[in-house]
Amino acid sequence: MERLDQIFHHPLYQSLLRKIEEYEVHRPFCLHDLNHFLDTARIMWILNLEEKKGFEKEMIYATALLHDLGRAAQYEHEISHELAGKEIALKILGDCGFLEEEIDWICYAISSHRKPIEGEGTESPKEELAFLLYRADKISRKCYACKAAKDCYWPMEKRNLTIEN
Ligand SMILES: [Fe+2]
Ligand SMILES: [Fe+2]
Repeated sequence: MERLDQIFHHPLYQSLLRKIEEYEVHRPFCLHDLNHFLDTARIMWILNLEEKKGFEKEMIYATALLHDLGRAAQYEHEISHELAGKEIALKILGDCGFLEEEIDWICYAISSHRKPIEGEGTESPKEELAFLLYRADKISRKCYACKAAKDCYWPMEKRNLTIEN
């Protein structure tokens, strides 16, 4: 998975990871760090296997590794992190040798990862990947054990309230 290592070691990836860490140093809520990205990647992979979606591991990990990198721009300029993240992903994926269609699918998943995608089972593969990210992103959060739950802005229907996930 050479291209995934290229993503991780990309100078823009590294600088944004550090920036987000600095912004979130006193954040009481969920963090947007490498642990979250890898939890999301692994849960996406499990769902992909359980539901026989057939995505390659590289596509899944690339999507999860990049999905919240727009957080730094959100903290700096109050713009939505999914749209900022899409632009960042475009640049990094292009630099790491991803093909046009792969970039299109990953960027679509990143730009729509905060809203559920309707009509499960009838989507195009591109929408299936986006829906995997949407679900894994939520499942990765341990809302049932969160000390800051009472102040969290997430509506109850988005929260992961069961350990079974
Ligand atoms: Fe996010
Ligand atoms: Fe996330």
